[in-house]
Amino acid sequence: MRLLKIGLVLISVLLLLIVITDARPEYESPISLTASDINNGKYMFYAAGCGSCHQSLQSQQRLSGGDELKTPFGILVTPNISPSVTHGIGSWSDMDFLNAVKTGVSPDRKHYFPGFPYARYAGLTDQDVVDIKTYIFSLEPVNSFAGQHRLLFPFNLRRLISLWKAANFNFSRFLADSTQSALFNRGHYLVEHVAHCGECHTPRNILLGLDQDNPFGGSVGFDGVNVPALVPEFLQAMGENAVVNGVLVNAQRLNGKPITQNKMLEVIKTTRLMTKNDRRAIYTYLTERNE
Ligand code: HEC
Ligand code: HEC
Repeated sequence: MRLLKIGLVLISVLLLLIVITDARPEYESPISLTASDINNGKYMFYAAGCGSCHQSLQSQQRLSGGDELKTPFGILVTPNISPSVTHGIGSWSDMDFLNAVKTGVSPDRKHYFPGFPYARYAGLTDQDVVDIKTYIFSLEPVNSFAGQHRLLFPFNLRRLISLWKAANFNFSRFLADSTQSALFNRGHYLVEHVAHCGECHTPRNILLGLDQDNPFGGSVGFDGVNVPALVPEFLQAMGENAVVNGVLVNAQRLNGKPITQNKMLEVIKTTRLMTKNDRRAIYTYLTERNE
């Protein structure tokens, strides 16, 4: 009798764990948007750095995947996100794509590892995300497998990601602040969600989420690279031009030295393609945000 009770308790705990750690998509029915704008999709694809992570350094194909990201638990290999039906995302619906990019849930209802910065992309508008998909689907499919993650047990268990999500992930839509200028709000959207500058410039807490008490406080990446702090007063003192053109186009640090770290150079490949207005928006947000 006693064994039966213990067994029942164990089974209930197990069932409870399965329910708690389950991945539930946010979008459950087909969505309807205005017609998709492929030019906006291309712009957002670059601004969001999708190609920076999802290209293999060998093949230089933007969507092939195969880039390796170091984490404390092993290596994540970025997947092929080309419209290949066999190796990429060619069979995905808009809904599948929204769930992946904004909520970190796969079409077969598994959690994605947060090396895919969906916690930031959660704030993207549905329109921007679907436009990105339209752009991706206009590109050539790449018919090769990117490779498998090499993570240590138990960190390879996707259900565990639900714990990370519980602590660090909040699905909330981006809301413009009506007391701020349009430029500030655009900058907020670009910095926090699209270009996700904080993924590198904000230190991590012990749960490996971004430390919201110290935004842009500078950090050391998992690969050991030092990432400088972005202090509003300092950026302001250096002046708009030093950031808008110096850093974000000419790859010059604020002290005038060239930027040498590949991580930021990859970002600059994308900020260079932004309109000047968007780069000014980034500067405005970084210098005027509340601390
Ligand atoms: C910092 C690197 C990084 C950036 C930037 C990034 N991704 Fe990813 N992405 C990843 C990693 C790593 C995975 C694998 C996650 C996993 O297996 O759990 C992934 C997975 C995906 C998947 C799931 C593919 C599949 O086969 O299940 C899609 C779709 C995707 N990314 C699209 C995008 C788009 C669109 C963007 C730009 C808006 C983007 N990614 C930006 C790293 C990145
Ligand atoms: C993938 C990681 C990563 C992301 C994302 C990233 N940065 Fe950086 N950033 C770096 C690193 C690393 C450096 C230092 C580069 C060097 O010293 O060669 C840097 C340097 C800088 C500097 C120069 C600071 C100084 O003191 O000279 C500025 C400004 C900056 N980044 C702004 C941004 C903005 C704005 C974004 C978002 C659009 C961004 N970064 C996104 C990693 C990143």
